Amino acid sequence: MEQYAIKGGNPLVGDVEIGGAKNAALPILAASAMTGESVYIENMPDVRDVNVLLDAMTNIGVMVKRINRHKVLLNAGNINSLVIEDEALKKIRASYYLVGALLGKYKHAEVVLPGGCDIGSRAIDQHIKGFRALGATVTIEHGLIKAKAEKLVGSHIYMDVSSVGATINVMMAATMAEGVTIIENAAREPHVVDLANFLSSMGANIKGAGTDVIRIKGVSHLHGSEYVVIPDQIEAGTFMFAAAVTKGDVTVKNIIPKHLESITAKLLEIGCEVEEIEDCIRVVASKPLRHTQVKTLPYPGFPTDMQPQITVALALSRGTSIVTESIFENRFKYVDELTRMGANIKVEGNTAIIDGVAKYTGASISAPDLRAGAALVTAALAAEGVTIVDDIRYIQRGYEDFHLKLQALGAQIELVQKERDFQKFEMRVG
Ligand code: EPZ
Repeated sequence: MEQYAIKGGNPLVGDVEIGGAKNAALPILAASAMTGESVYIENMPDVRDVNVLLDAMTNIGVMVKRINRHKVLLNAGNINSLVIEDEALKKIRASYYLVGALLGKYKHAEVVLPGGCDIGSRAIDQHIKGFRALGATVTIEHGLIKAKAEKLVGSHIYMDVSSVGATINVMMAATMAEGVTIIENAAREPHVVDLANFLSSMGANIKGAGTDVIRIKGVSHLHGSEYVVIPDQIEAGTFMFAAAVTKGDVTVKNIIPKHLESITAKLLEIGCEVEEIEDCIRVVASKPLRHTQVKTLPYPGFPTDMQPQITVALALSRGTSIVTESIFENRFKYVDELTRMGANIKVEGNTAIIDGVAKYTGASISAPDLRAGAALVTAALAAEGVTIVDDIRYIQRGYEDFHLKLQALGAQIELVQKERDFQKFEMRVG
């Protein structure tokens, strides 16, 4: 089993190139199945969730060809099944995007129910409500979500919660429905906009993505496209907070600064210097970090996917900080691990009360989910001594070459497989 071995104490210094956004790439790949023509996707992150989805699409007859590590050609002209029971797909959240895509194009889809990170109950009622409003019959049987329609007809849909997944799924299905669909209280995340732009590049008629009202005029045909996925807001934010936690000086490159505004604002509040230079942001943490308060919110609020990373920084900041998680009810599981490294955090319901400590110390810890796993790595990079991080398969779901990018910034981090590798690492780092 792979682990990260980390010797903390080195400030991260240098430039890091940010890859394509996983949470944009996943729906874009699924939507590629909505045309029989060839689609080229560039800036695809080479991460596990994306590869699992590509394998599942291959298994139903989509031709998938890697042009290079980050560019893929898909052709769904010969899909041979609308029933997807792939075991691996159960583990990822984005499996359900194939429902919206296939229902939209073929008016039928049966897909294993989604898994993904264990961060809350993660209902799919809004997806189902949206599909039904478009005229589909939706049932859940034998672990599959089954959606079928004679035809889909545009509708006026009010989402009870602002859901990224439901907005994306309903948008895909509505793209090939008859007439006009209006989604109210739509999610405004950058990846929702990226999918809308991709669908539009295939001939869809979508207006308002990025606002809370999206208007979709159905079309009968989508054509091939060439598209570049947006940079990953959360990968960038993770490196920006890693700079803060390690008292470093890191420039994240190839990003869209607008997508990072809420993250930048919090870094400034806690005492970092943040400089925006075209498509780069430099974060310098030369002064002691200060406490603050933060509440996770849908975009443009502070992202729930950055909540563990800011908590790791605040637990090393002077004074008492409060972090409120308002999106997922079970997203503080990593706090126990951070406590083992010396953090002083009390969780009450959806709130963490954090009393800053002077330092972390290395420990043997496990990644409970993707973002918390990455955040714990950043804690280990700041810690005194050696940390072993288990269950890094979660981190690999969403961060490409995480340890290599950190190494390039001066971190002492290695991927180890066996006790012997770990001993070698310990000898090397002293
Ligand atoms: C997406 O999950 C992301 N995943 C998550 O990133 C991210 O944390 C989340 O959006 C919020 O930004 C992907 O894009 C693959 P939601 P999603 O539907 O779509 C409730 C990561 O680390 N809800 O916006 O599943 C739900 O319970 C992952 O990359 C319903 O009640 O999130 C939650 O409280 C983790 N009914 C809230 O809405 C529904 O039908 C937001 O969930 C759907 C959602």
